[in-house]
Amino acid sequence: MGRFRSYVIFSAAITLDGKLATRTGDSKLSSKADKNRVHRLRSKVDAILIGKNTAKLDDPVLSAHNAKKKNPIRIILDSNATIKNNSRILRTSSKIPTIIVVGERASKKNLQRLEKLPVQIIICGKDRINIKKLLISLRKQGIKKILVEGGGATNWAFVKEDLIDEAMITITPYLVGGINATTLVDGDGFSTITKSIKLKLKNVVKMKNEVVLHYEN
Ligand SMILES: NC(=O)c1ccc[n+]([C@@H]2O[C@H](COP(=O)([O-])OP(=O)(O)OC[C@H]3O[C@@H](n4cnc5c(N)ncnc54)[C@H](OP(=O)(O)O)[C@@H]3O)[C@@H](O)[C@H]2O)c1
Repeated sequence: MGRFRSYVIFSAAITLDGKLATRTGDSKLSSKADKNRVHRLRSKVDAILIGKNTAKLDDPVLSAHNAKKKNPIRIILDSNATIKNNSRILRTSSKIPTIIVVGERASKKNLQRLEKLPVQIIICGKDRINIKKLLISLRKQGIKKILVEGGGATNWAFVKEDLIDEAMITITPYLVGGINATTLVDGDGFSTITKSIKLKLKNVVKMKNEVVLHYEN
């Protein structure tokens, strides 16, 4: 499959109770050392992918600090093309390559707004983005390796279709609770453990108060 679609590394920092953020969307979980590790990882991939809610709530730039080579391409799943012009991603899109993935039903008005910006627009899927198709089309344009950085709904879209090749998950020492807090993988979930994907644990790194788990599929 690797040759036909982009290779996927799933990356996240979670609380000890498996959340990506608190119920109010506070996701500042990682230590400085872990952030540096993620930035090094980002500099080794061709692209970083996130969902629309993460783009909206966290408003990240998704750059790779200390990257010797150029920044990876940012890819946003945004079915209705609603990402704001004043988001940090769109404000930096003339400097860092950016792909907005939209659905076939995105309004003309929203598309026309994006077309004026220095971004690539990929139309893929009807209501929601068709991830398998997207990975094949990204591979065709030379994107070999992508880092999937959430949030929970986006992560489920990849997990559901067994599209994760590696996972690098940092466990941080927080217990935040909250039934409505986003978890590592949300969505409908698998009904039984036998239907779940099962990863192989390759490495465990202890970093002061955090643990980084490295899995392969
Ligand atoms: N700790 C961490 O490492 C970390 C990392 C990332 C995010 N976060 C946190 O996660 C939270 C956001 O997570 P989230 O689950 O709400 O949202 P998300 O995964 O960031 O975005 C979900 C949205 O993406 C769009 N989308 C398009 N195609 C999709 C598809 N095939 N499957 C799923 N979504 C698709 C949908 O919006 P449309 O229908 O409009 O397209 C959907 O509502 C934030 O609080 C953020 O801080 C934490």
